Amino acid sequence: MSGRVPRSFIDDLLNRVDIVEVIDSRVPLKKKGREYWACCPFHGEKTASFSVSASKQFYHCFGCQKSGNAVGFLMDYDHMEFVEAIESLAQGLGIEVPYEQGSAPAKPAQGLDAMYHSMEQSSSFFQAQLKQNPEAIEYLKNRGISGQTAKTFGIGYAPPGWNNLSGEPKLLIETGMLIQKEAGKQYDRFRHRLMFPIRDRRGRTIAFGGRVINPEDNPKYLNSPESPLFHKSDEIYGLYELKKAVTNIDCIFITEGYMDVVALAEHGVKTAVATLGTAINNRQIESLFRVCKNLVFCFDGDAAGKKAAWRSLEQCLASLKEGRLARFLFLPEGQDPDSYIGEFGESAFNNQVEQASTLTDYLFETLLNECNIRSLEGRAQFLDRLRPYFAQIPLQSLKDQILAEVENRLGQKIDGRMLRLLGEDKPGKTALRRLPEQHWTPTRLAINLLLKKPALALTTGNQHELAESNIPGIDLLLSILDRIHDDPEISTQNLLDRFRGDDNEAHLYKLAAMEPPIENDESLERMFGDCLQSLQKQYIDHRQKLLISKLQSGEALTEAEKREHKKLFTNQS
Ligand code: UTP
Ligand code: MN
Repeated sequence: MSGRVPRSFIDDLLNRVDIVEVIDSRVPLKKKGREYWACCPFHGEKTASFSVSASKQFYHCFGCQKSGNAVGFLMDYDHMEFVEAIESLAQGLGIEVPYEQGSAPAKPAQGLDAMYHSMEQSSSFFQAQLKQNPEAIEYLKNRGISGQTAKTFGIGYAPPGWNNLSGEPKLLIETGMLIQKEAGKQYDRFRHRLMFPIRDRRGRTIAFGGRVINPEDNPKYLNSPESPLFHKSDEIYGLYELKKAVTNIDCIFITEGYMDVVALAEHGVKTAVATLGTAINNRQIESLFRVCKNLVFCFDGDAAGKKAAWRSLEQCLASLKEGRLARFLFLPEGQDPDSYIGEFGESAFNNQVEQASTLTDYLFETLLNECNIRSLEGRAQFLDRLRPYFAQIPLQSLKDQILAEVENRLGQKIDGRMLRLLGEDKPGKTALRRLPEQHWTPTRLAINLLLKKPALALTTGNQHELAESNIPGIDLLLSILDRIHDDPEISTQNLLDRFRGDDNEAHLYKLAAMEPPIENDESLERMFGDCLQSLQKQYIDHRQKLLISKLQSGEALTEAEKREHKKLFTNQS
């Protein structure tokens, strides 16, 4: 459990923080109209449907419907806990987080905190073991890794034996450091292995990769299993170390192994990273592009390397925005970056990098290899093969460049038929972002208007009688009115935050993101008034019908219903 942060502090923080700044520093935003836009960081897409509102201080994706405020964004994007997100925002503003009495943050570590702590302890243990183990030291030395580099990456050694790790067994089991055989019986997962700590973007150890020292043992690499701390397909090995070591990052090298990252660093190439034995995905590529616009994917020149390279290209396309560059480096067959730089040195490696293919070249070379473009059919086949890749590119200037390359390679001007084969009907026309139909009802509009300008609620009473109607969404509207009446000066962001964790939260953000046709403050009030009037009418209709059907079925009305009947039918007409 985290220390309780007082409600008033959270309100104040949300009023002071600027969500545009918070998000823009992680996902660059572009202003278009009133809102800021980007391609959604939570799902793969080519056109921006992720909007951030400065006035309402929240984000909403029209594609995947994810939404939230600054706190929610940090929780989802940086995988922070609630209190962590609050702390991080407060830190950005240079203010201290007050904790309510009796729950100081200096509590004994529990939950995730305790797991991080436990991983740190294991990491220290492995590093200390390395210093005492001549065999492991010798192994590293033979692979050309200096003590300094080993220290930078926190490399350690897990000794042989089944019960070397100390610490809370529950935490060690949950993080995968111990394997539970049967109740109460557990043993160390990593034995007699060189240990590479895997650190998250904040430098916390979240998992390990362990390499055998004895070539007879297997598997060659053993990784921590998925755990609450570790989601393999989200992590990038070496990214934390890279950011720490280098401030001006020219280019990031994406390799396939721990040893590639470490060996490149040893030889002065300190901007390499690796995936963790899995194919790279678009989220990982996006986060690398956010760090540096120039990526070089490095592969072994063999068949497996080529397959992996093509997969990387496919995952890259949707991320090719302004200024971003992806290149593909194929080392001679049988070499990986580690063995290559070890054998030939840094400048030879850099020469190889100079010769890396651009994404366009690699794309064309590969597809041209598969089609005989000297025949008419071959050309059509080529365009057909190119189409799905072409379609994913979000940047018009890159598309134009590819069209020029098509002309160049096929030796013929692009015509309408060719464009159709490529899935482009009109040249130079970018797909417009299409927002889902906005379906307005008086309830939705009233809620939307209240979220724009909470003070509108003060122009009317609590409207509680409407609860007796069958109008969809009316309960939500009434509870919003109540909350504003309770706190007449409440801001939009605080109002939204009152619904954190509520079943209606997502729906509310969706409504807040809709844009009604309003010109000025006056029409805003008028529209709100119209909504309430229309809701009142719906309510009266509903009650009238109900009372009539009761009378028609011969049921007696209660005293209250009689009064209501009189009121409803005399007030009308
Ligand atoms: P490689 O087999 O290419 O190893 O695996 P490597 O990086 O060249 O390592 P050295 O040079 O032999 O030490 C590349 C990556 O694939 C994952 C690891 O993440 C490794 O870094 N892998 C490999 C495993 O997870 N398990 C294995 O058994 C092998
Ligand atoms: Mn290797």
